[in-house]
Amino acid sequence: MIGRLNHIAIAVPDLAAAAAKYRDLLGAQVGQQRALPEHGVTVVFINTGNTKVELLEPLGEGSPIAAFLAKNSAGGMHHVCFEVPDILAAAAKLVAGGARILGDGTPKAGAHGLPVLFLHPKDFDGVLVELEQRLSQPNAAVVRWTRL
Ligand code: CO
Repeated sequence: MIGRLNHIAIAVPDLAAAAAKYRDLLGAQVGQQRALPEHGVTVVFINTGNTKVELLEPLGEGSPIAAFLAKNSAGGMHHVCFEVPDILAAAAKLVAGGARILGDGTPKAGAHGLPVLFLHPKDFDGVLVELEQRLSQPNAAVVRWTRL
C-alpha cells in the first residue's frame, strides 16, 4: 500500500539555525521558511534527491510539536511520511486492521496541500507515521477529497 518515503520530519527548537546547518555544513538544497498557522508549525523543506527532510518549529499556542520539544529540548525525529495512492482506501484498511488514526480519523490538508493523516505511534513501533495522498495520480481519491 505505501509507496515512496515523502519526507522525514525533524522537530527543532531554532528553525533558522537548523536550516543554516543543513545549507552551510551539509550543503543541502534548503527551501524557504513557510509559516503554517493552521498546523501550528513553521516549516523548511530540504531536498535530498530521493526524499525530503521537513524541519519543524512550533508556531503559536498549542502547537502539535510543543510537547515533543518540551521532552526533547535539542530537537529530534518527529515523524516519517509515506505516500499512498488512495488515502481514503488506506484509512479504511488501517482502521479495519485495528490501527488508530489520530484526530477525528479523516484526512486533512497537509504541508503540501494534499490530504494527510497520522497514525498512532503506539501502533507503529513508537514512530509517528504520516500518510500523504500521492500527487502524481489525478485519481478517484483526489476527486473524492476535493468534495469532502
Ligand atoms: Co510531515
